[in-house]
Amino acid sequence: MTSTVRRSILERLIRAGLQVTPDALGYLLSADSPLELADSIIQSMDSASSPVVLTREYVQSCIDRTAPEVIDDQAPLVLMSGPDSGPSAAADAAAPPAPDTDSVHSIQVLKNPAASMVGSAGTVDDFLALFTDRFRRIKRMYMGRVDTHDAVSIEVLKQKKISPRRRRKPDDVGEFSEPVPSYTVIGMVRDKRVSRQGNVTIDFEDFEGSITCVIPGSREGPDGRKLLESGNSILLDEVICVSGRLDQPGRMIADRVTFPDVPIPRDIGRAKRDVYAVFISDLHCGSYHFLEDEFDRFISWISGHDLDSTERSMVDQIEYLFIAGDLCDGVGVYPGQQDDLRIPDIAEQYAYVARKLRNVPEHVKIVCIPGNHDACRQALPRPPIPNEFAKPLYDLGERLLMMGDPCHLRVEGVNILITHGDSLDDLTTQLPGVTYEKPDLAMKALLQKRHLAPVYGGKTELAPLTRDWMVVDTPPDIVHFGHAHHNVCDNYRQVQIINSGCFQRQTEFMKKQGIKPTPGIVTLLNLRTFSPEIKLFYSFEDQSAGDTRIS
Ligand SMILES: [Fe+2]
Ligand SMILES: [Fe+2]
Repeated sequence: MTSTVRRSILERLIRAGLQVTPDALGYLLSADSPLELADSIIQSMDSASSPVVLTREYVQSCIDRTAPEVIDDQAPLVLMSGPDSGPSAAADAAAPPAPDTDSVHSIQVLKNPAASMVGSAGTVDDFLALFTDRFRRIKRMYMGRVDTHDAVSIEVLKQKKISPRRRRKPDDVGEFSEPVPSYTVIGMVRDKRVSRQGNVTIDFEDFEGSITCVIPGSREGPDGRKLLESGNSILLDEVICVSGRLDQPGRMIADRVTFPDVPIPRDIGRAKRDVYAVFISDLHCGSYHFLEDEFDRFISWISGHDLDSTERSMVDQIEYLFIAGDLCDGVGVYPGQQDDLRIPDIAEQYAYVARKLRNVPEHVKIVCIPGNHDACRQALPRPPIPNEFAKPLYDLGERLLMMGDPCHLRVEGVNILITHGDSLDDLTTQLPGVTYEKPDLAMKALLQKRHLAPVYGGKTELAPLTRDWMVVDTPPDIVHFGHAHHNVCDNYRQVQIINSGCFQRQTEFMKKQGIKPTPGIVTLLNLRTFSPEIKLFYSFEDQSAGDTRIS
């Protein structure tokens, strides 16, 4: 496919009287839509000032000029409204009136997997397109970095192999007669093995070839430890960048493993006013073990009841509530679940959720995404919970936005990435140190890898689409996960990390595993100052009652 595209690009450029350097052509081919980009460059050429030979820098400047503001295919949906006047007739009488301010919600939907955009025939070509898109988009991140932009293809690397006769001094075994050059390559990980000696061996590939790379486990010092740490954290199917030398059999011996990571410095989004967002998830309504009293206390608090003046002034500034999935417990999610269900009907579970959320003050905009317990397909990206199951939530009108997973919003100028975090199920066994009680480690690793679910074929299902929605194209200011049932709040390279815990009791299964969830903890963030705060609605001294399961 790549050779066809390359030929087509060259034909177009030649017809336009242009030449292109090899690295500029490689860069063009790594773009999302190489042919369209080539056409747009040709159309933008000005005979008076444009070069005849396209260099990599010139192509990059064209990409930067044409880079869309919006992160995904979907046209941006800009929602600007005053204090919601929505279906007030449906509002619960207990909800107090909106605060007397002239605040205005500002939400721009940058990325949302609507149902119409994420269907697939599930063919082999669809899977190929998914991984091709992943590779191209993450490679583009590397090509934009100063330290990895000179990466060569694996085929080019293999041609650099120096014959043993030239490399070895006649009487000095192990010494080379000339310096061994270092090269950088980008590839997708196909296989990974760890030897008894602690060496990590990976096979990785690009469009043209594959190579085996050894990440030595014996190097000493901070650099050696960091190299091995990077090697151990490599996941199957992720796109990595390795720098190193070729050994005599043609393997690459790594000196450095680079992940695309979150750049510093970068543009940071902050609200221009004091406005608070609240982050929750994993309500599991419908389960016997949903913490109804604690959730009702949360609703009462966000409604401004029984607060002192200091807290009330803060609560009055809450204008957004984000819910990162598992709104209800669902039906048939795990064997024997019916025994845990107080509400056995899925539609009635959503009606129950809607009755609870209706009590949230009308000036608070609610954003929901689905989790693995919701009435949605399991494969990611996950479209919004369908109206046919959750009509009472849709009936809340403009007060509530039903989004898919993952969704990326710009709220008051702040980029917020919300995902349920299903891939934690894989990362707890594949990333050193990651547990359900330390989801922040997984969240940081995923930001570093700029992908929310790298591993294919594990517990996390991925839909075969022409676009990989799980690539983190633009680093967010806030990343919000659920699923772990464990509240954490941290910061990674100026990204605010929030895992919002749950409103469900500890389960028998969790007790046996020694896992203690942190229910009833709500995270708040002032979107101007970015000073996170937490509010407790659960007594951790009484965590013995009840049993249910995590998911
Ligand atoms: Fe959950
Ligand atoms: Fe979940």
